[in-house]
Amino acid sequence: MSYQTLKLEFYNKTAIVFINRPDKLNALNSLVMSELKHCFTELKKNEDIYVVILTGSGEKAFVAGADIAELNNLNMIAAKEYSEKGQEVLDFIENMNKPVIAAVNGFALGGGCELALSCHIRLASENAKFGQPEVNLGLIPGYGGTQRLTRLINSGRAMELILTGDIIDASEALRLGLVNKVYPLTDLLNNAKELADKVASKSQYAVKQAMKAVNICDEVSRSEGLKYEASLFSLCCGTDDFKEGTKAFLEKRKPVFKNI
Ligand code: COA
Repeated sequence: MSYQTLKLEFYNKTAIVFINRPDKLNALNSLVMSELKHCFTELKKNEDIYVVILTGSGEKAFVAGADIAELNNLNMIAAKEYSEKGQEVLDFIENMNKPVIAAVNGFALGGGCELALSCHIRLASENAKFGQPEVNLGLIPGYGGTQRLTRLINSGRAMELILTGDIIDASEALRLGLVNKVYPLTDLLNNAKELADKVASKSQYAVKQAMKAVNICDEVSRSEGLKYEASLFSLCCGTDDFKEGTKAFLEKRKPVFKNI
């Protein structure tokens, strides 16, 4: 897979996707969005890859937002399609069959913050900055930010960020639960790889079922969610991995999972 706006590296069972427009602070233009869709579609099918890390090239930005030069040309009709197509890409990432870790290495503004929100786990560097500054452009978030940010953090704080366009630093993002952990920039990727290795060492069958159960939370009622959890729990109990995991515990050894 080779792309104009993305760079790919592979590490153990992990693919690392770099958004690679550092001279434009990795801003999301249409080409980045279509390449992201293609890349994640391929990674979804790739059975050798268990985890994906998404990050930005350079030391300054994860993604500084949607490309404002492109936004400037939108009319009302094109804008609806633009927003829906972007939402589709981020939904695709959120519904991947393998975990996606955002390694936020600098600015994550507008569409960049929304992109990080569509990932399953967010780690940040100490220089990371988060915000939804669309209101400064006479806009609102259009790639799912109004929905995902409000569900992830305190809704009053989400509203405040969206209404003011304020930019917050990594420690505030950590305090709000917007990111899981903060590291010095030079350690960020290694920590993301370590986390990816840890998840990759588990039963991938169980990992997939866990993701499905957690991801359905926003879509169904609590009682439906619990029923779904019980059915996936039961499916896990029919696997070789379940037999191996429980047997290995009782035999005081490490399990060897076959992911079936
Ligand atoms: N869209 C298009 N280009 C962008 C961009 C964006 N969202 N964010 C940054 N860039 C470009 C700049 O235009 C500049 O390009 P140039 O060198 O060809 O002029 C380059 O990236 C570097 O950005 P610059 O503004 O010079 O860096 P800075 O360190 O002074 O400021 C930011 C960094 C992030 C504060 C500033 O770039 C910014 O406010 N970006 C827009 C953020 C935003 O509103 N995002 C939401 C969009 S919906």
